[in-house]
Amino acid sequence: MNPSAEYHLLELSSALFSNYAEKQRLVKLPTGEKMIYDGNGIPIFSNGTILVKTFYYFNDVRDTTLGKKVIETRLLIKSEGLWNVATYVWNDEQTDADLKLNGYDTQVSWTTLSGINRTIRYQVPNQNECISCHQLNSEVLPIGPKLRNLNIDVIRNNESINQLEHLQSLEILNDFDKSQVAKIPNYKSLNVTSVEKGRAYMEMNCAHCHSPSGWSRPARTGYDFRFETDISNTRILDNKDKIKEVLQSGEMPYLGTTVIDEEGVELVIEYINSL
Ligand code: HEC
Ligand code: HEC
Repeated sequence: MNPSAEYHLLELSSALFSNYAEKQRLVKLPTGEKMIYDGNGIPIFSNGTILVKTFYYFNDVRDTTLGKKVIETRLLIKSEGLWNVATYVWNDEQTDADLKLNGYDTQVSWTTLSGINRTIRYQVPNQNECISCHQLNSEVLPIGPKLRNLNIDVIRNNESINQLEHLQSLEILNDFDKSQVAKIPNYKSLNVTSVEKGRAYMEMNCAHCHSPSGWSRPARTGYDFRFETDISNTRILDNKDKIKEVLQSGEMPYLGTTVIDEEGVELVIEYINSL
């Protein structure tokens, strides 16, 4: 049994692009509880589980010792079998955060890797927007901690260890044969093919909406951008130009960004052009 309930870090192989924000993801389980293997996807979480995601920007990406600004902390809390959503927006002094359920518009400035000072509009989503992305068969669910997206090597106590193994050693993930778990590739990795990059990017940035069991409005368009979906069932091949167009114009993703993910769009276009 894990002796006391604590927050533990979760790292994803591939992640959602959110206006260049950095993100920290944590899980806290009730004392003695474990995440339970349930296939390749989201493990079973017990009531009382809290998933936390904090969005922040380094003041200067080139030198992280110059500090950071925390924008918001989002929560998914499981209670009586259902996940509840909430987000807290941090004040300028970074001393306190307020619950915001109705959305909130702010600005962030930072210095990019190429030394440019950038200021953008940042939209904190409202509850309905959280639910638009976080639903499957009309039920609110976590998205990131699918076992195949956690199945990577991480550094803990100065040593490299498979994250699933590490979570098992903390006794917050049950024992199962890890060879059963696939891996979602990291679309930012150099060692990944163009096809894997394109599909991993679409899994993390599109598929929470564009899958048959997702939010009804995007589901109606018939696209299925999940990583494991066979290319012939994604509708990508028949709509190459349309997909490129909605990405380049910033029309998609429909929620969650106010600026275009230049690097991400480029890799999807490279993938689509290779088909
Ligand atoms: C544009 C779609 C989108 C919106 C809107 C959105 N999320 Fe998420 N959220 C995601 C995706 C995709 C992930 C997993 C990938 C990642 O973390 O990079 C995620 C991850 C999370 C996580 C970490 C656990 C998990 O499910 O992976 C929490 C907590 C969370 N979101 C809470 C919220 C809350 C609360 C809101 C509303 C205030 C919200 N999200 C709005 C797409 C969205
Ligand atoms: C927050 C949910 C959401 C996300 C994330 C999202 N979409 Fe969409 N998408 C929609 C909705 C809703 C529509 C339908 C818009 C409408 O009703 O006019 C749509 C429509 C589209 C269409 C046009 C459909 C058609 O044939 O007319 C394309 C192409 C598309 N999305 C691609 C993408 C791609 C590629 C991504 C990822 C980069 C993405 N979407 C991410 C919600 C989403």
